[in-house]
Amino acid sequence: MPLDGFRCFMIVVLGSINLDIRLEVDSLPLAGETIHAHNRQYFGGGKGANQALAAKRAGGDVSFFGAVGSDTLAERALAELVEADVPILDIAVVREETGSANIYVDRHGENCIVITAGANGLVDVDMAAAAVASASASAKRGLLVFQQEIPFETNKAALELARLHGVRTILNVSPFDVTSAELSRLADIIIANQHEWAKLSNGADDPDAMREWSGRNDQTLVVTRGAGGVVVSTPMEYFEVAAPVIQPIDTVGAGDTFCGYFAAELDCGRSLKEAAGIAVVAASVACLRAGAQPSIPLRFDVLGLLAKNKFA
Ligand code: RIB
Repeated sequence: MPLDGFRCFMIVVLGSINLDIRLEVDSLPLAGETIHAHNRQYFGGGKGANQALAAKRAGGDVSFFGAVGSDTLAERALAELVEADVPILDIAVVREETGSANIYVDRHGENCIVITAGANGLVDVDMAAAAVASASASAKRGLLVFQQEIPFETNKAALELARLHGVRTILNVSPFDVTSAELSRLADIIIANQHEWAKLSNGADDPDAMREWSGRNDQTLVVTRGAGGVVVSTPMEYFEVAAPVIQPIDTVGAGDTFCGYFAAELDCGRSLKEAAGIAVVAASVACLRAGAQPSIPLRFDVLGLLAKNKFA
C-alpha cells in the first residue's frame, strides 16, 4: 500500500526471529531468586522480525531475510509475519533451534529480556549478499535495515556490500555490544536509544556531541529517549521531536516499532522530520498493549490518532 501517493521503494530487513515467551511478574527476579509469573504468553518476536512487521504495518513494501529452525517454535514465531503478509520466502530453515526470548514484564511495565540466538546465529554472509542484492535490484533501490541479534560478520559484510552498491542503510545498534561502534561507522543512519548512544559517545549526552558525530562521520544519528521524544542530527541539521504523553503498559518492541515506521516513511520519500514524527507516535502506541508484535499499530490507526490529536 503506497503511502498517500508517495513513491515507495522497498525496505529490506536482515535480522533476527525469536519466539517471545512473555512472563508477567510482580517484580523482576533478583539474582538467586525463584518467583512466580501470573501469566505466560507466546508471541512472534526478534528485533529483525519486529522491525519488518512494523515497516509492513506502516504501509511499506517489505522483504525480510533471517533464519529459523525446523522445529515447532518456528511456526509460532512467524505467525504474525505470515498474517501481515510479510514474505517469508527468504527465511532460511537451518540446523539450529528457532531463536527465543524470555521476557519478564513487571507491574510497572519495566522489563528484562534474555535471548537465545539459536538459528539467528546461523544467518550468514550468503544471506547478507542476498539481502543486499534484493535491496539493490534495479527497479527497486531499497533501504536496508539492520539490528544486532545476528552475527557481527554477517552485518559487517552486508553493510560493506550495501555501501559498494549505493544502498542506503539503517543500523539499530541494539542490543548494544562491543562491536556496535565498528558497525555503526558503516551505516548511513544510526538509530540508538539514549543508553546506547551514551555508550557510543562515551557518555557525551548533549547536542554538540551529536552534531560533532554526524559531521565527522557524515551520518544521520537518531536518538530515541522514551518519554523524552527523539533527537535527530545530520551534518546539516539538528532537531527534536516530542513524544505523546502516555501511561505505558509494556515498552517491549517500542524501539522496533520506531525503527520500522521510520524506515517505511523514509523509503517513501518523507523528510527525516516527518518520519521521526510519525514513528514516535507509532512507538508510543506500541507501549499501550502487551507483547512486541501484537502492539505494533497499523499506519491508519497512527494517523487517526494524530488527526484526532488524541495524545495532546
Ligand atoms: O526489541 C524487542 C525484542 O527483543 C523482543 O521481541 C525479543 O525477541 C528481543 O529480540
